[in-house]
Amino acid sequence: MPEVPVITIDGPGGAGKGTLSTRLAEHVGWHLLDSGALYRVVAYAVQQAGMQVADAEQIARVVRELPVSFQSGRIIWQGMEITAAIRTEQIGNLASQVAVLPPVRAALLDWQREQACAPGLVADGRDMGTVVFPQAKLKIFLTASAEERAKRRHQQLEQRGITANISSLAATIRERDERDQQRVHSPLIPAQDAVLLDSTHRTIADVFNGVLQLVRKRGL
Ligand code: DC
Repeated sequence: MPEVPVITIDGPGGAGKGTLSTRLAEHVGWHLLDSGALYRVVAYAVQQAGMQVADAEQIARVVRELPVSFQSGRIIWQGMEITAAIRTEQIGNLASQVAVLPPVRAALLDWQREQACAPGLVADGRDMGTVVFPQAKLKIFLTASAEERAKRRHQQLEQRGITANISSLAATIRERDERDQQRVHSPLIPAQDAVLLDSTHRTIADVFNGVLQLVRKRGL
C-alpha cells in the first residue's frame, strides 16, 4: 500500500500553528490532526475526575479508553461538547503537565498515527515531525517570540471579552515553553530535517504562502 503523505507543523503555543494547519489542510484537501486538542481533552478528563497529575498510570488508563470524538471541528467528550471548554489557559497548562508523562504519550501514539488516512494528513503539535510522523514529507517548525505570542493571545481574549494582563500571559507562555522543551520524552524541538519559520514579524497569511511554495516544491 502506498504511504499516506504527511505534513507536520510543530512549534510552541501561539506561534500560529493552528491557523496555518487548518488553512493548509483545507487548501490541499487533507485531514487535520490537532494533537494539542487531544492533550487538552486528557487534561479536561483529569480535571473532571479530580485525578492527580502525579498518577501517570491511572491517567494513562483513562486515556486508553477516552470517550472522545472529533466531529468536523467539534470535540465531544462523554456525549458533551467541550470544544470551547478545553481552550482555557488553565487547561492548556494542565495539558502541558500531563504531556510530560511517558505512559500518557505512549497511550496516545497509535491513535495519532491512525489519523494518517488518504489523501493525506496535516499534523499540528510539538512532536509530530520528531516522534509521531518521522517519515513526514514536509516538516515545518513555526516559532514566534514569547512577547509576540502573548500579544496575540491578549487580542484573542479581548475579542472574547476577557480581560488579561500581557506580562502575566508572557510569563505563563514562557513557563509552558520551558516545560514542553525540557521534558525527557518527546520534547519540543525541531526535527533535524524541519524547515524553521519565525512568524514574529510576519502575518500568518504570509507564512501560509511561504509554506504553500514549499508544498509545491516537494510535489505534494
Ligand atoms: O498546542 P496546544 O497549546 O493546544 O497544546 C497544549 C499542550 O499539550 C502543550 O503545552 C503541550 C502538549 N502537547 C504535546 O505535548 N505534544 C503535542 N504533540 C501537542 C501538545
